[in-house]
Amino acid sequence: MSAHGKPIPMTARSGAPLHGVAEVPGDKSISHRSLILGAMAVGETRITGLLEGQDVLDTARAMRAFGAEVTDHGGGAWSVHGVGVGGFGEPDDVIDCGNSGTGVRLIMGAMATTPITATFTGDASLNGRPMGRVTDPLALFGTAAYGRRGGRLPMTLVGAADPVAVRYATPVPSAQVKSAILLAGLNVRGDTVVIEREATRDHTERMLAGFGAKIEVEETHEGHVITLTGQPELQPQEIAVPRDPSSAAFPVCAALIVEGSDVLVPGIGLNPTRAGLFTTLREMGADLTYENERTEGGEPVADLRARFSPDMKGIAVPPERAASMIDEYPILSVVACFAEGVTDMQGVKELRVKESDRIDAMAQGLRACGAIVDEGEDWWRVTGMGPGGLPGGATCASRLDHRIAMSFLIAGMAAQAAVTVDDAGPITTSFPIFEPLMGALGADLRRD
Ligand code: S3P
Repeated sequence: MSAHGKPIPMTARSGAPLHGVAEVPGDKSISHRSLILGAMAVGETRITGLLEGQDVLDTARAMRAFGAEVTDHGGGAWSVHGVGVGGFGEPDDVIDCGNSGTGVRLIMGAMATTPITATFTGDASLNGRPMGRVTDPLALFGTAAYGRRGGRLPMTLVGAADPVAVRYATPVPSAQVKSAILLAGLNVRGDTVVIEREATRDHTERMLAGFGAKIEVEETHEGHVITLTGQPELQPQEIAVPRDPSSAAFPVCAALIVEGSDVLVPGIGLNPTRAGLFTTLREMGADLTYENERTEGGEPVADLRARFSPDMKGIAVPPERAASMIDEYPILSVVACFAEGVTDMQGVKELRVKESDRIDAMAQGLRACGAIVDEGEDWWRVTGMGPGGLPGGATCASRLDHRIAMSFLIAGMAAQAAVTVDDAGPITTSFPIFEPLMGALGADLRRD
């Protein structure tokens, strides 16, 4: 079962400085894609460093249900024996994607142009999230979707028997939508074209090219125009999943706000479509340096070194940077509490349809901790209180959202009084070793 069990309340309090090396787990986006593309290749894809978080485990189970052989060899080493593009079989049962929007949306795309029927469901968070953004473009291929009101899960998709190639301009900046369309386009004769005005994470494009698909990206006045030629035979790959910059954000930000800290987070991908938070922190005056910069698997990688930064200033985060740090606004809002001045975050309405409404979740919890937070539909603003300035002393709701839970716990490590989250259980979806990893750095984290 992927549903979270009994709530796990957890409390963080300030204590010793954070010191040491934080080896964060594999990238969640790349882990999902490794399993899905591996399942669509012919032959055996071998993966090392796979994130063994619940979201990815749910995708592994789904790939088995569609007919791929997925084997866990231990220690993050996995193999996927794929069934080829168009080779998915019809699952015997409902596909439960747990908490994962990426999982369900990419898998919907991957099955949408094969003549099979599948029903998808998830936890209370996922079943509340909009799926129309994916099923609308999939309908253009000829895929039918029957869901609950508002295009919510549970939902049944009937794959197109005779799909036609699609040209689609995405109305929302979403890598999940883009990826669903590209994966659907794999089993269609001709060119599928996705146009995105704002660049979103490009792992699907890079990995499709790596698996041998013909895919081209052009910058035009319309934005990024991505053209995929359908019906390739995908070649199995050896994939070393890089460490997740979105997980790295937590020990990095903790080190910046906990007095006396000095933490090294090695081997973090700095793909420009993912690295917006680190740029923002450096603009705020964070003592965050990139050491040992190198290229691995075609991606820029560095060891991040973060030290306590008492002189950070709030900034206006450029809205055009939003897609490259969309998952990092909750933890940025925590750092902003410990900076001087206002941190202004604009053009972020996508935050309202994540695992939770992340603006509302953070605003309410931070206000309960004594912070000053203003918000509108697509913006929010935190007025900083300087180093050690956040009172804390509240219990915050994690709302089935891993990043909300981790953000409040990091806040508690630097606040004047302890901060509790009502349920740290969701953290296992993306960062199953968060508790021991932060503990080893010296954080005072306790289950209540
Ligand atoms: C993801 C895309 C983003 C991000 C999510 C992972 C992906 O979602 O928030 O955590 O792997 O494609 P959107 O595409 O909805 O912005």
